[in-house]
Amino acid sequence: MPKTIKNLVFTACIGLAACGGGQSDRSAVTTPTIPTAPMLRDQTTIPIGVALAVGSFERASSIRYSPQASQLRNLAAHEFSSVVAENVMKPEFIHPQEDQYNWSDGDYLVKFAKDNGMQIHGHTLVWHNAIPDWMNNYTGDWEAMLTDHITTVVSHYSSDISSWDVVNEAFLDDGSVRSTIWSTHISDYIAKAYLAAHAADPDAELYYNDYNIEAMPKKLDAVLNMVSDFRNRNIPIDGIGFQLHIDRYWPSTTQIRQAFSRCVAMGLKVRISELDIRMNPNNTATTLTPELAELQRQRYRDVITAYLETVPYDLRGGITVWGLTDATSWVTGYYHMPDWPLLFDANFQRKPAWTGMSEALIATP
Ligand code: G3I
Repeated sequence: MPKTIKNLVFTACIGLAACGGGQSDRSAVTTPTIPTAPMLRDQTTIPIGVALAVGSFERASSIRYSPQASQLRNLAAHEFSSVVAENVMKPEFIHPQEDQYNWSDGDYLVKFAKDNGMQIHGHTLVWHNAIPDWMNNYTGDWEAMLTDHITTVVSHYSSDISSWDVVNEAFLDDGSVRSTIWSTHISDYIAKAYLAAHAADPDAELYYNDYNIEAMPKKLDAVLNMVSDFRNRNIPIDGIGFQLHIDRYWPSTTQIRQAFSRCVAMGLKVRISELDIRMNPNNTATTLTPELAELQRQRYRDVITAYLETVPYDLRGGITVWGLTDATSWVTGYYHMPDWPLLFDANFQRKPAWTGMSEALIATP
């Protein structure tokens, strides 16, 4: 169904739903309404992505099991052109036992994405978090175990997933290599991970993904030195994912632009891979006031503009926000304070943050 007709039909359906399907049912007025056109995905030709919760363990955020699953799916499918699994493709959840892979939730996300004309980004193959106990306690051939995990997962999704976060967060902020079970048990593990991923799917774009590389020059130095080393050794890597879990104050867009520029100068693709913008980092607010919402609009606008003005079109891997609504964000549970870091509020309504992103996408093709 062509998108314009799809939107018209969708708008009519939403109109009916919001009115309780035509009945004068007052309870229906509380039904979250899903925004209509123009959608973010229609405002640009680069992937505009969202991290989605899928598993039953992700409870109210899950597009599969939540009581609001259909609203979550509708909003995601209409606003975004790309998806990434917030958790279900991590080793802990996709490979819970050495001889057992759990494909169900990942396959559900892939079908949802394909049914809605969305790209899928794979997150993540190798990380120091979200590791199943059997891996943490492994006593066999570690290199073979990691290679088998990567090969099995990438091969399973090779027809559907076009890019992967192969290794996530392998460096510390000072640029040193993070000590993990992988660095402890496998020499040159990062290179071996990229070789395994490429062997499993030569067509997939392979990213390195991390946080604070936009603000910690030594950390970005370490990442880019790794890329240079990989290129000298013919080890495939295509791009860098800047998570950009940032806040209202830090880092500056100048720092972000400078970091993007260093990657562009090396011909690397650049993804904004996990964008969210905390507005209450010092725990001084209890609600998202109009003033804070306006500051968040400006911050989203400025960060997206920095990306579009700094990264040329052919190197844009896309922009992904790390969650659908403020109610599904990881931030409040992690920092244990109220916050509103995303584009949509708990009732699926567009926030000024959405407007900021839209303004940037429209103003800077
Ligand atoms: O609720 C289940 C519980 O029933 C189960 O026993 C337990 C097993 O570990 O998992 C629980 O789920 C939690 C899950 O989020 C769903 O809410 C996990 O405890 C919790 O660790 C997990 O946190 C995720 C975190 O990565 C660690 O994997 C966040 O949702 C997710 O947003 C966050 O995302 C990371 C990126 O992958 C990498 N970059 C940083 C980013 C933020 O930390």
